[in-house]
Amino acid sequence: MSAAPLRSLLFVPGDSERKQAKGLATAADALILDLEDSVAAERRAMARAMVLEFLQAQSARAPQQLWVRVNALASGRLFEDLAAVLPGRPAGIVLPKVDSYDDIERVARALEALEAGQGLLIGSTPLLVIATETPAGVLSLPSYPQAAAAHSASARRLAGLTWGMEDLCAALGARVKTDGAGALRPTFQLARLSCLLAAAAIGVQAIDGVYVDFRDGESLRRQAEEARGDGFSGKLAIHPDQVEVINAAFTPTDAETAWARRVVAAFEAAAGAGVTQLDGQMIDRPHLLQAQRILESVSRDGSKKP
Ligand code: COA
Ligand code: MG
Repeated sequence: MSAAPLRSLLFVPGDSERKQAKGLATAADALILDLEDSVAAERRAMARAMVLEFLQAQSARAPQQLWVRVNALASGRLFEDLAAVLPGRPAGIVLPKVDSYDDIERVARALEALEAGQGLLIGSTPLLVIATETPAGVLSLPSYPQAAAAHSASARRLAGLTWGMEDLCAALGARVKTDGAGALRPTFQLARLSCLLAAAAIGVQAIDGVYVDFRDGESLRRQAEEARGDGFSGKLAIHPDQVEVINAAFTPTDAETAWARRVVAAFEAAAGAGVTQLDGQMIDRPHLLQAQRILESVSRDGSKKP
């Protein structure tokens, strides 16, 4: 995982040149060029070619990281997708509808072969896993820490876990995702929290899922701030208007940054002590970790400033 977490990751349909161009003009930390659900079946082959061309033209100069969402293992199209886009050196691969860690392991092995075949560094293509789109996927999340420990090569590729509820909702035949006040129904809360906990347990980014009502910036802001409060470090976007809102929500405030710098300075001054004090409050390891996390997010923000 890179030091600076990705705050905003904007989905861009793989078959839309217009949206690809538009995506490049946003402040998103990453674009996710989509070969899956946003592309109609008859345009799939064309989308692969367009995404490869876009990667080849832009990978080295785009201000955003360029990721690609491939089709799910169960679709039978995943390996062809990977083979088609890997020569464009995507920043990483977004893997949808994962049923268990075993899927990740299979994809990691396929990537090893492709990387070797193309003279790329083995392990150089990270994965962002959409871990809650199937009921089996949600149920398997508690097994990730053990599986990741047993499979260190695939675990090293894992950059983050994210969650989605549209496909889960369809798989369940559920009719309602939220209650009247907008709070998630329990099944979707379970999906969201399982993703958050599994990501933290294996030490990768937890990325909050999409908010589909893209005209409602106020609700998006509230949702993104809640997500950051809970420990998510970024959020998926589907529309350019969502990017700034998400970046703002996941950028530490000046007060948080100042606090984090003072915590780090207090530990430096305490020269190796595990516990010290700041303004009359005890601070120990958890506070230092919080402070370091805040400063990592600041480094992303700083790197994006002109
Ligand atoms: N990436 C880049 N540009 C986008 C964009 C996206 N995700 N979504 C919209 N835009 C562009 C539009 O092309 C339009 O540009 P234009 O004025 O030059 O034509 C502009 O932003 C404003 O778009 P707007 O008219 O508000 O929305 P729309 O009706 O064109 O598109 C969606 C609405 C939902 C179809 C579109 O946002 C979209 O395709 N989102 C991504 C869908 C996706 O990838 N889903 C899979 C993950 S869940
Ligand atoms: Mg989907």
